[in-house]
Amino acid sequence: MLFVNAGVKNDDRETIADVSTSEFTRVMVTNALSPLRVIETFKDCVTASGTIAVMSSGQGSLTNNTNGNYEVYRGSKAALNMFMRSFAARSGGERTLLLMAPGWVRTDMGGPEARLTIEESIPNLLNTMESYAGRRGIHYLDYLGREVPW
Ligand SMILES: NC(=O)c1ccc[n+]([C@@H]2O[C@H](COP(=O)([O-])OP(=O)(O)OC[C@H]3O[C@@H](n4cnc5c(N)ncnc54)[C@H](OP(=O)(O)O)[C@@H]3O)[C@@H](O)[C@H]2O)c1
Repeated sequence: MLFVNAGVKNDDRETIADVSTSEFTRVMVTNALSPLRVIETFKDCVTASGTIAVMSSGQGSLTNNTNGNYEVYRGSKAALNMFMRSFAARSGGERTLLLMAPGWVRTDMGGPEARLTIEESIPNLLNTMESYAGRRGIHYLDYLGREVPW
């Protein structure tokens, strides 16, 4: 399994209307372009029936974006999801491709008000990932194994 987790966010209050070009570029490059660069670099280390996963976010769902907020971050994770779908179409093969949504978690990024502790999210998220081993195709899942609408 290859699992790409790194990600960043910008200031929550910053909308697409007022984000600077350099900040927009930082978030998009880190969250959308770089995970695909890691995958392109290491994909041959994953067996033909192995799993390639990235840490997406529920915020990347177009369907669930009914209230706005976190505009730049949402856009970067939606772009990540799209690039993974393109990767799946181009070179997914027999592999399992996973886009994971961990919930709102108390990390440096999630902050102290987040709903879930790391212990409440991540073991469940990893169990979900393991339960999808060998299920070819691309799946967008939350930490409890529920499908997230694209
Ligand atoms: N926390 C949440 O509620 C939440 C919800 C949905 C999705 N996510 C996603 O979960 C993933 C992990 O987030 P987190 O909450 O653990 O955030 P975090 O506490 O801020 O940790 C982010 C991690 O990403 C690494 N990173 C950032 N930019 C990097 C770069 N350019 N190169 C290499 N490493 C880099 C950081 O490394 P350094 O410490 O060395 O900078 C750090 O280890 C992210 O993809 C995030 O978008 C988080």
